[in-house]
Amino acid sequence: MFKLVTIPGDGIGTEVVASALQVIDALKEKHDLEIEIEEHLFGGASYDVHGEMLTEETLEACKNCDAVLLGAVGGPKWENLPHEKKPEAALLKIRKELGLFANFRPAKVYDALVNASSLKPDILSGTDFMVIRELTGGIYFGQPRGYDDNRGWNTMVYEKYEVERIARLAFETAMKREKRLVSIDKANVLECSQFWRNIVHDVHKDYLEVELTDMYVDNAAMQVVRDPKQFDVIVTKNLFGDILSDISGMITGSLGMLPSASIGSRHALYEPIHGSAPDIAGRNKANPIATIASVAMMFEHSFSMQHIAGDIYTAIEKTLESGMRTADIANPGDSVASTTEITDAITANLEVS
Ligand code: IPM
Ligand code: MN
Repeated sequence: MFKLVTIPGDGIGTEVVASALQVIDALKEKHDLEIEIEEHLFGGASYDVHGEMLTEETLEACKNCDAVLLGAVGGPKWENLPHEKKPEAALLKIRKELGLFANFRPAKVYDALVNASSLKPDILSGTDFMVIRELTGGIYFGQPRGYDDNRGWNTMVYEKYEVERIARLAFETAMKREKRLVSIDKANVLECSQFWRNIVHDVHKDYLEVELTDMYVDNAAMQVVRDPKQFDVIVTKNLFGDILSDISGMITGSLGMLPSASIGSRHALYEPIHGSAPDIAGRNKANPIATIASVAMMFEHSFSMQHIAGDIYTAIEKTLESGMRTADIANPGDSVASTTEITDAITANLEVS
């Protein structure tokens, strides 16, 4: 028996989580799974009811389950709140409170979509790498921070144990893949990055089978679009990982394709990388694949059911191969499917796989 907490949030978050739940329901039936599902408020949806983006109740629910599935948070309605009340602050709080220090963002090209990206198909084809972003440290959380009329300041700081544990996880991940790890930093300018680099090399001593390369973040941004196939596993700090994972998103053609898993030592949270997309919210237009693929990551990491994760990816592939496209991945002239249409197709392909 697994316990899943869903927090759909705002905008297209509610639509893509509904799609994911349809897929989970089909899987429950097919494999006779016992998964208890509990929905909670988060983000603007919570603020409108409770005056808080993240209530104690939702946080407690997220701490007392096997996995959390998040949609997206935020929207114009809540944009002008003070910094500490914004939806983004709630997202950071949930990551920190659940101790989700490692964020896995796979950049994998689906063959059917090599023409959907702004990059050339022959550069993309066969790309498959994993960005591991440190998620609870660095400049996102460092103190002091603030601004006044004359100055704005943030602090990039990493503790030794924070770098050690993310490096270890990255080497472990590389061991299960092609044993190639690129650690991305800015050690030519930032002391904090030199520190990161030193620790990563110390941890490497326990994983000498893995080929370790250091790369500066500016060069890495260029390399990801120049020759993405060179990468297997990337490990990097919070801020650099934020930027590089959006760049990597273009490899799959759309941010609407990219799932993520945030893992800590006790808890796990799965979410699409995209935001709440207020411009298309409520119009049955959103691409649900990133969220459905996040469910696959959940079956893999939290439920240890690799075969079901595999079935989900296969159903997504089959659906794309049939030519079905939501607006974000359609080429001119393609007919465009709605969120519910593509979800129905993925669910149907799941049943026959
Ligand atoms: C992400 C987002 C968040 C981040 C924002 C919304 C706080 O961009 O998950 O990548 O910067 O981490
Ligand atoms: Mn981001």
